[in-house]
Amino acid sequence: MSKGEGSAIRKADLLIVANRLPVDRVVGPDGSVSWRRSPGGLVTAIEPVMRENDGAWIGWSGGADDDIDPFVEDGMSLVPVTLSGQEVEEFYEGFSNATLWPLYHDVVAKPEFHREWWDSYVAVNRRFAERAAQVADEKALVWVHDYQMQLVPAMLRELRPDLRIGFFLHIPFPPAELFQQLPWRRQLLEGLLGADLVGFQRPGAAQNFVRLVRQRVGHKTHRDLVYLPDGRTVRAAAYPISIDTPGLERLARTESTEQRAKEIREQLGNPRTVLLGVDRLDYTKGIYDRLRAFRELLTQGDLSVDDCVFVQVATPSRERVEQYRRLRDEIDRLVGRINGDLGKIGSPAIHYLHTSYPKDEMAALFRAADVMVVTPLRDGMNLVAKEYVACRYDDTGALVLSEFAGAADELRQAFRVNPYDINGMKDAILTAVHAQPRDLARRMKAMRKTVSEHDVKGWARRFLESLDETAPEHNKKVRPATAQ
Ligand code: F6P
Repeated sequence: MSKGEGSAIRKADLLIVANRLPVDRVVGPDGSVSWRRSPGGLVTAIEPVMRENDGAWIGWSGGADDDIDPFVEDGMSLVPVTLSGQEVEEFYEGFSNATLWPLYHDVVAKPEFHREWWDSYVAVNRRFAERAAQVADEKALVWVHDYQMQLVPAMLRELRPDLRIGFFLHIPFPPAELFQQLPWRRQLLEGLLGADLVGFQRPGAAQNFVRLVRQRVGHKTHRDLVYLPDGRTVRAAAYPISIDTPGLERLARTESTEQRAKEIREQLGNPRTVLLGVDRLDYTKGIYDRLRAFRELLTQGDLSVDDCVFVQVATPSRERVEQYRRLRDEIDRLVGRINGDLGKIGSPAIHYLHTSYPKDEMAALFRAADVMVVTPLRDGMNLVAKEYVACRYDDTGALVLSEFAGAADELRQAFRVNPYDINGMKDAILTAVHAQPRDLARRMKAMRKTVSEHDVKGWARRFLESLDETAPEHNKKVRPATAQ
């Protein structure tokens, strides 16, 4: 710890504000509490820059009524924000995940609008903004993340006009026709306009935002710029996020990963083709229709359980939200029916795993899979698609990818599908299963080049450099991470 050591709150030159801390709370069998780094790519990208810049991370621990003092974990300065049980229900499960989440994902589920949820969203965003205002050093850079925190930029600017503020939205930003359903649409737009730079996954999302600001808030805009009456300029542009490509490739190449991949295939009965789906158990991911397409391929005899198996990993997520509970029941029923109707002793059609796995097991699964099936109905990016590509260092394997995932902009050599078109999805899966190794190698090589050239560190660098250019009046520069 450097600056402000010994004081309750240490001042930071670079501050990350995100709904969650980059660590998970682990309670041991004896009741002892420790913290484990969460597997997300965001920490990997930002950690080196944080170390160089007296960085700190503000976020929620994931529990209710936890009152945890700021602490340092693994060299990172972490500042927890407390949520009450009611706020977990209204801000997190409610407004964030039952209002904004479905609204921003093409309304694939019906968003619920409740005024108490909105009030809770405002209150929690204010708490995060106030915490950030306390922790940020003079002229610090504050990088706010994602849909749970959209009011923070304006609230923070009001408290601390000296700060440089960036915002990045990890999920899609909807077209005006959907966004304007939101009773608090103007407040959210004004919240985001507190940032100097508003980053999105895709150029279309940035355009949606600029158009909405022009229509709903009435500010002048030109291309990716918004001109505010107070003379400030806000830029809105695309910064497609990525993964720790070298780290993942290194893991995939290890002897233990190769060994485990072989073991997985053996345990699956050494089928000719292993198809794999890996998703959070979320209705935006298109798991249900994907499995229906697979069932039809089996019933029509295009594929057979004798030489083909589907492994679906579904990570538990937001389990107290009604839509997620219902989805879990639907998938449980569908998998049960498919296996009951089509499986044989020792050869189920689908291996369904409702769990999360550590990184090394995921790398082994990616190595074990011949065809990766990623078919979200809408997805900001989808890092699983990129992770699969990073693990296929020998240019083998096929990626079936929804055109409605942000990753489809970059992974152009994937077998593309419209996830609403079951027949199209069946055709794409079959084409991928039967593709010639030369064709697969050509596609995978090109996609590997893309994820190698655009990894998550490059993403963070590009965003922070743009922020420097967008707000030049702030003279405190962010030092790039030292080479490792
Ligand atoms: O994709 C958006 C996102 O919020 C990620 O940042 C996060 O890893 C994932 O969804 C799960 O979110 P939650 O915090 O609700 O478990």
